[in-house]
Amino acid sequence: MDIVLSGIRPTGNLHLGNYYGAVKSFVKLQDEFNCYFFIADWHSLTTHPKPEDIRRSARTILAEYLACGLDPKKSTIYIQSDVPETIELYLYLNMNAYLGELERVTSFKEKARKQPDNVNAGLLTYPTLMAADILIHRSTKVPVGKDQEQNMEMARLYANRFNNKYGVDYFPIPQSFSLAGRGIKIPGLDGSGKMGKSEGNCIYLYDDPAVIRKKVMRAVTDAGPQAPNSEKPEVIQNLFTLLGAVSSKETYDYFDEKWNDMSIRYGDLKKQLAQDIIDTLTPIRERIAEYSANTELLDRIALEGAEKARVSAAKTLRDVREIIGFRV
Ligand code: TYM
Repeated sequence: MDIVLSGIRPTGNLHLGNYYGAVKSFVKLQDEFNCYFFIADWHSLTTHPKPEDIRRSARTILAEYLACGLDPKKSTIYIQSDVPETIELYLYLNMNAYLGELERVTSFKEKARKQPDNVNAGLLTYPTLMAADILIHRSTKVPVGKDQEQNMEMARLYANRFNNKYGVDYFPIPQSFSLAGRGIKIPGLDGSGKMGKSEGNCIYLYDDPAVIRKKVMRAVTDAGPQAPNSEKPEVIQNLFTLLGAVSSKETYDYFDEKWNDMSIRYGDLKKQLAQDIIDTLTPIRERIAEYSANTELLDRIALEGAEKARVSAAKTLRDVREIIGFRV
């Protein structure tokens, strides 16, 4: 049976990109597969967060996972740092990960450019830690957004390399998974390509209706269509991509037609988009508030999740140690 795994770095709150790129798939997959969903707090250490922020932000994401519909009875939900087995596998994978290939990873190059004073080894070996997260449960399906494709390629590289090096067929080769059948990328509303925390252009799941309206009404647009049935420029396509994610097909088609016959009014489109986002997020926001207030429940769920995850992780690690030649 397929083993599904995915994770999110706890560096703030979940936003629409996280939801449509990842969490919405998690919710669906948990009914069909053996799923592991974790909070990647080790990954967030590359930027040196304060201890109190680490504790708080893991709980925040946990509350948001649950509010979106992740169910600890169906899935194993855990915090990465509660499963130390991952780190041992990370070490083994690092022994067969090479400087040249790690330096060529686009997100490493970007971060190294943006933060030249903090090009640490953890940043360089981010892809091997991500591979360890995936391989520690011998996962086969990894629901992620499009921006994670290169990290997924690295995970496949390290799985294959381990198998080849030791002449075994131990790690399955993990595949990316997306509900839409291809990677999804939710755009920002500021004309930049991607909605993301570091881009500062997010609509957060906990945003209240007034905030959502304000953010959507401010979205960058253009002077309007210049000819019937013309191709949409990127900033307009971005609005339609969001509409495609949150609105009904009828709504999408209505505005698409208006674009094609040049009668579109961006103000109307934005109002509708804002309303549909609000309708989608309101129940989630209410549940986030409830779960966030119940830290006892959150801690219990994290503890039980870690116990389950460690059983699976320990089994993999025993096998891996034996394959490598260590005492088990
Ligand atoms: P992170 O925390 O940056 O993002 C979490 C998930 O949200 C998706 N995502 C998006 N999808 C579509 N459009 C967007 N604008 C958008 N923004 C974010 C991401 O693709 C991701 O699926 N390296 C990972 C965390 C991680 C992980 C793993 C994931 C660590 N280990 C093992 C899967 C398996 C990350 O930084 O995601």
